[in-house]
Amino acid sequence: MAAVAELTQYTNTAHRFSSEVSYASTRISGLRRLHLRPIKNSGIRCSVTSNKVQAAPEAVKAEEVKKKAECYGVFCLTYDLKAEEETKSWKKLVNIAVSGAAGMISNHLLFKLASGEVLGYDQPIALKLLGSERSLQALEGVAMELEDSLFPLLREVSIGIDPYEVFQDADWALLIGAKPRGPGMERAALLDINGQIFVEQGKALNAVASRDVKVLVVGNPCNTNALICLKNAPNIPAKNFHALTRLDENRAKCQLALKAGVFYDKVSNVTIWGNHSTTQVPDFLNARINGLPVKEVIKDTKWLEEEFTNKVQTRGGVLIKKWGRSSAASTAVSIVDAMRSLVTPTPEGDWFSTGVYTTGNPYCIADDIVFSMPCRSNGDGDYELVKDVEFDDYLWNRIKTTEAELLAEKKCVAHLTGEGIAVCDLPGDTMLPGEM
Ligand code: LMR
Repeated sequence: MAAVAELTQYTNTAHRFSSEVSYASTRISGLRRLHLRPIKNSGIRCSVTSNKVQAAPEAVKAEEVKKKAECYGVFCLTYDLKAEEETKSWKKLVNIAVSGAAGMISNHLLFKLASGEVLGYDQPIALKLLGSERSLQALEGVAMELEDSLFPLLREVSIGIDPYEVFQDADWALLIGAKPRGPGMERAALLDINGQIFVEQGKALNAVASRDVKVLVVGNPCNTNALICLKNAPNIPAKNFHALTRLDENRAKCQLALKAGVFYDKVSNVTIWGNHSTTQVPDFLNARINGLPVKEVIKDTKWLEEEFTNKVQTRGGVLIKKWGRSSAASTAVSIVDAMRSLVTPTPEGDWFSTGVYTTGNPYCIADDIVFSMPCRSNGDGDYELVKDVEFDDYLWNRIKTTEAELLAEKKCVAHLTGEGIAVCDLPGDTMLPGEM
């Protein structure tokens, strides 16, 4: 059964999500400038500081007033990172913005980022944490725990509820926050509600993030949210946007390893094609175990086509039933994997899956959607698509199903991507992995 709905022009719901709070804002030359009013508990900034105590300034110049207005309490203390860079050969500070920062996934992720295990032990980072008005107290709790962890590489933590402030100069934006589908909520409504959040976040990134920011969308439905986000950020290369399908790849590797009776590091070349939904296609045709095609190692084609595929597609939902909530730790690990895949060279002959913007791909997948495909990177943050993959009828038909779903989702959010009036005609079986 198809859900049919027409959605109207974007209203200001998402804007409400991030404003009405502690900041008075004005729009100047297309950019939102924030005037922070130092209200209790708002816009806290934390920095790991040196033990150098600063003398109170004698005279405050106009420029300094502006700077000081943006910091809060102890976090206004500064330290001489440059001098430390020289002595410790640290790299230039990297700004990582995280939305949904008070949630479970972030709670696993932030401490990994701060420890250095993701970007390297010579890479100082600043964490810019975006929450909602409701989660501001919890965000403070997160910031306090980060402080108490004494991570040497964590140079700054800032928290806030306005993406135009939090995404300032972001080199990475990990967009985790999204609304879960409520009981009885149409998928069209879910796409609309979450889509509006990603309209605003795309616009904010466009206005204030680094021009080379890498954006990883985790909040579901992540492929279409990533599409909305990139369409609202025309000054950032579309190639820089990713939808997280690495968790699905990891799940597929685990299931193949289990069936073949090998450790999972023996499984390689696994692609997840398409949408992070129950139509996703875990590709066993091109995958390898100990360097051999999977089908030479696992001869049970029925298992591969039915049980394996279904298990990967619905793993998120099974997990929700056990846990009573979505996967969090394994999602955080897969975010780490996805980031590392872009900043370290892909091992010879292997590849990784990530949802990327389709434009002139070698597989004849429709352009102008965000589709998970096999990619390689030389470690500079960029990627290229893998060309030498095989297709058979089974794989191709499945790919066409997930492609059709993404094309339908795209039509459903046309009002959010600047492409006119939305018409929502979604296939009845369109579901997130967690919704089965
Ligand atoms: C997952 O794959 O674990 C999640 O995307 C499931 C969900 O719907 O939250």
